[in-house]
Amino acid sequence: MDANERFERMAQVARAFSPSAPIDRRAFAGRVSQINDVINACTQRGQHVVIFGERGAGKTSLANALVHILGTRFATLACGTINCDRTTTFASLWKAIFSEIPLVRNASPMGGRGGSDPEGTLAQFLPENVTPDAVRAILQKRDRLLIIIDEIDRIKDKTTTTLLADTIKSLSDHSVDVTLVLVGVAESVDTLIAEHESVQRALIQVQMPRMSPVELGEIIDNGLRAVGMTIEQNAKQRISKLSQGLPHYTHLLGVHAAQAAVAEDRRNITIDDTHQALQKTLQHAQQSIAHDYHRATVSSRETRYPQVLLACALANTDQHGYFTASDVSTPMSVIMGKPCETSAFSQHLLTSP
Ligand SMILES: Nc1ncnc2c1ncn2[C@@H]1O[C@H](COP(=O)(O)OP(=O)(O)OP(=O)(O)O)[C@@H](O)[C@H]1O
Ligand SMILES: [Mg+2]
Repeated sequence: MDANERFERMAQVARAFSPSAPIDRRAFAGRVSQINDVINACTQRGQHVVIFGERGAGKTSLANALVHILGTRFATLACGTINCDRTTTFASLWKAIFSEIPLVRNASPMGGRGGSDPEGTLAQFLPENVTPDAVRAILQKRDRLLIIIDEIDRIKDKTTTTLLADTIKSLSDHSVDVTLVLVGVAESVDTLIAEHESVQRALIQVQMPRMSPVELGEIIDNGLRAVGMTIEQNAKQRISKLSQGLPHYTHLLGVHAAQAAVAEDRRNITIDDTHQALQKTLQHAQQSIAHDYHRATVSSRETRYPQVLLACALANTDQHGYFTASDVSTPMSVIMGKPCETSAFSQHLLTSP
């Protein structure tokens, strides 16, 4: 392989994985149970969905996949996807959503940039004063709608959250044929439900857990299949283990391991390639992570902060990601090479109330 060919293969590998951007339908892996939950909700009038999970768990990717899956299954479904930010208000949210939905079905592609449709969009019905009932009345004009509102945790305006909860309640009470899919981190669900206890009944909560080793393996397989490469079983297991359930790292390690093999004109990835991939990934670790690590471990005296931090990262957690001081004892003992009781490091742990 000459240098140009090698360069081209490196670029192909980089395109086959997606460490930074949410994935689209083509390379989407796993999440069968979550997709089924959402599809079930979409077939029941009055039911809406909230997808929640930790940062980077793959919420937006799932929402992207849904647009495609439901878009083809339900021929008449129109979709609008909107990202919230800290300036979002109730009125700006619905203005943005309605400008994505054409008045005439199939007038423009799903999620088409609003306003370009000559027949107009639902936005033209929005009154000066946007209320939950006004929104419901407009949505009743169109049936079979799927509306995805991403990053609801970024909404800072409390009134907007309250009005959003009221809207869900109103849509549900009037059995309007529209499904709202809200996406955000776990706390945003609590905030939403705190606004309206009865919203709980209208919302199906779909949790996005970290991905299983099988699902992570599927990400590697999908990427490698696209570039005609293979991987040894132990190398695949190592990438999956290092990723700790977070798909971003699987993509990142996958790219670097495949590129290490390409650099030696091989099509099969070995365990040695994953060692190189780990070094590369660590070199490129975000500056913010390096900064946080420094802040967590820096001290003018000799401390065990680095060891305790590592032990915490390795500790067994409950399903919500929490651990107790005694969970840290086992990994701490391995790291220090001697038995460590909690009293040996408990002063380094900050306990939550
Ligand atoms: N099912 C999947 N198959 C393949 N790759 C995935 C999948 N889910 C997520 N990813 C990858 O993981 C990374 C994070 O995914 P995504 O952006 O969807 O997470 P998120 O939960 O929306 O994150 P955030 O909370 O930061 O918005 C992306 O690089 C994406 O390519
Ligand atoms: Mg996201």
